[in-house]
Amino acid sequence: MKHLIAPSLLSGNFLDLRREVEMINNSDADWLHLDIMDGVFVPNITFGFPVLNALKTVCRKPMDVHLMIVEPQKFVRELAEAGTYMMNVHYETCVHLHRTVNEIRKAGMKAGVTLNPHTPVCLLEDIVRDVDMVLLMSVNPGFSGQSFIEHSVEKVVRLRELIDRTGSKALIEVDGGVNLQTGKRLIEAGADVLVAGNFVFKSPDPRATIQALKAL
Ligand code: DX5
Ligand code: ZN
Repeated sequence: MKHLIAPSLLSGNFLDLRREVEMINNSDADWLHLDIMDGVFVPNITFGFPVLNALKTVCRKPMDVHLMIVEPQKFVRELAEAGTYMMNVHYETCVHLHRTVNEIRKAGMKAGVTLNPHTPVCLLEDIVRDVDMVLLMSVNPGFSGQSFIEHSVEKVVRLRELIDRTGSKALIEVDGGVNLQTGKRLIEAGADVLVAGNFVFKSPDPRATIQALKAL
């Protein structure tokens, strides 16, 4: 499968979100990645449902929502109503992950499970067949523009082995510090979806940057 690109709006201009989403609509981006933070699970706060519902009215790409919040299972209905395609919950925040994944799917969304840099891939052994995606963090979640944690490439290789061995259909997404160099290595290691924030939105020509990432 040709890899997918999911630009992260967190690095966009928040005074001009409509224009940023229209740029994404008219680009080679496959999804729009949206980072919701609560100031509890991570040391930052971004935006919530009112913003998501507004974005839904202009966004023509599937919305890949990354929840960096405690108790994400409380918001399955709100996320589904906001038109979410993929709901990503952190492994570290879900005590009853299997139940949460089932509820996400029952609500009509795809279910993604996210791992912090320190959380080993082997913990997914008994859930990987039930999820649509695993999102590996290649920075500590909370901010855009951080540098890539090298160990992430090795984690992609290990996750690819686990997925192939178990017959899981899960996609592998990687988020944090992605650029043309790290992106290429991640794809070679077995990643299916690349998230990119700063590298896209802080570049002189974001659409061309998305095209370059897609062409890797
Ligand atoms: C970080 C977020 C990322 C972030 C990526 O916690 O999950 O999606 O926007 O930004 P870059 O690509 O700049 O590292
Ligand atoms: Zn993210």
